[in-house]
Amino acid sequence: MLEKLLEKNRLWAKGVKEKQPDFFLNLAAQQAPEYLWIGCSDSRVPANQIVDLMPGEIFVHRNIANVMVHTDLNCLSVIQYAVDVLKVKHIIVCGHYGCGGVKAALTRSRLGLIENWLAHIKDVYDIHRTELDRLNDETQTVNRLCELNVVEQVKNVAETTILQDAWERGQKVRIHGWVYGIHDGIVNDLNISVNSTQEMKDKYPTSVAKVFAR
Ligand code: CO
Repeated sequence: MLEKLLEKNRLWAKGVKEKQPDFFLNLAAQQAPEYLWIGCSDSRVPANQIVDLMPGEIFVHRNIANVMVHTDLNCLSVIQYAVDVLKVKHIIVCGHYGCGGVKAALTRSRLGLIENWLAHIKDVYDIHRTELDRLNDETQTVNRLCELNVVEQVKNVAETTILQDAWERGQKVRIHGWVYGIHDGIVNDLNISVNSTQEMKDKYPTSVAKVFAR
């Protein structure tokens, strides 16, 4: 079974080298991506392919339901390295419609350990409970919660000491919130692009209002 993957790998590498003979040699020397992607682990949401970028162009962190938890050393390390060392210009938090993690949090399914991780999505639900409970359609509720989760995670990234310090020293790094449609391949920009604590404060209420205006 895996032979097929190795064979595909060789064909792919050959194809890339045919187009750009020095491609891998140049990449081996250094990486200088301008973007950090924080997305869901879902196999249908591959960062590079969605935005059509080659290896070397986007630094990626993925976890279930694209959550940025303040005590997650793994995600924090990725952000710190991306901002302080790679000096990325953009951080994209990208959720997706129909996210299984969001669905599971909403229906409070019994799934074991993962429930502890999804508790962070339940927190997002609790923040916006009044408006979410007014929606009578389950798909609507899941999709609105997918969007709200991205808005909240953008806020969490903005609140890290990493971004706070970067902005304080005048580094140009902007955070964006997107939601990807697995049904059509299209990214929906949630209009929560921020590059300061003030902008985060200003845009948060309007971004939430826009979610419920959909
Ligand atoms: Co997902």
